Amino acid sequence: MKKGEVIGIVGESGSGKSTLMNLILGFYPVDQNQLLINQKPLTADRVATWQKSLGYVSQDVFMMDTTIKENVAFGQELEQIDADLVWECLEKASLAKLVGSFKHGIDAIVGERGGLLSGGQKQRIGIARSLYSGAQVLLFDEATSALDTETEREITESIQRLREDNFTMIMIAHRVTSLKFCDRIIELADGRIKGEHTYESLIQQTI
Ligand SMILES: Nc1ncnc2c1ncn2[C@@H]1O[C@H](COP(=O)(O)OP(=O)(O)OP(=O)(O)O)[C@@H](O)[C@H]1O
Ligand SMILES: [Mg+2]
Repeated sequence: MKKGEVIGIVGESGSGKSTLMNLILGFYPVDQNQLLINQKPLTADRVATWQKSLGYVSQDVFMMDTTIKENVAFGQELEQIDADLVWECLEKASLAKLVGSFKHGIDAIVGERGGLLSGGQKQRIGIARSLYSGAQVLLFDEATSALDTETEREITESIQRLREDNFTMIMIAHRVTSLKFCDRIIELADGRIKGEHTYESLIQQTI
């Protein structure tokens, strides 16, 4: 992968998509072959530094029943939160307009389990959170279920925006339409790369 590239991962259930992502995230030790980051193997002593540059956005972003800003600056003391940076991250995650429309802005309370926000908006809070923590590589693992068309559209839109900002992204998707903005799409089968596609070629295949 090159910096700024957007890679999609597809394949049947059990083909190894999440396993590959977990390897990239440094959750599993690599015992055979090597994972190269900027041409250097990801060895145990490099994992922590590598992980600092990663942002993992799951389909179920954990939300605290506090303000938007505390959910973006996750784990940071209230008085240490950089409000300008929160807004900047919300902007990049395509949430600034929505949050700007709230009476209390970034001080608005998210509500129990993120009740104020839709599924897609919660995922975008997850993106903003990753950006706030300094992530340069974003990873998405899309759930097979529970992804309505509206949420999918919202996420795909933010990905397009992030792509313009040159973020490197890796995304697992079950719907081909989620992969519209990928430079390359890797197909996995039985834990191996079966093929590489473009969005156009894949959409042709599916039709
Ligand atoms: N920790 C583990 N130990 C052993 N085998 C595992 C482990 N995790 C996953 N597997 C197996 O590895 C294979 C790939 O699983 P993986 O979760 O990567 O699939 P996936 O492509 O993400 O599937 P899905 O689309 O259902 O999320 C499966 O056969 C799974 O049972
Ligand atoms: Mg999976």
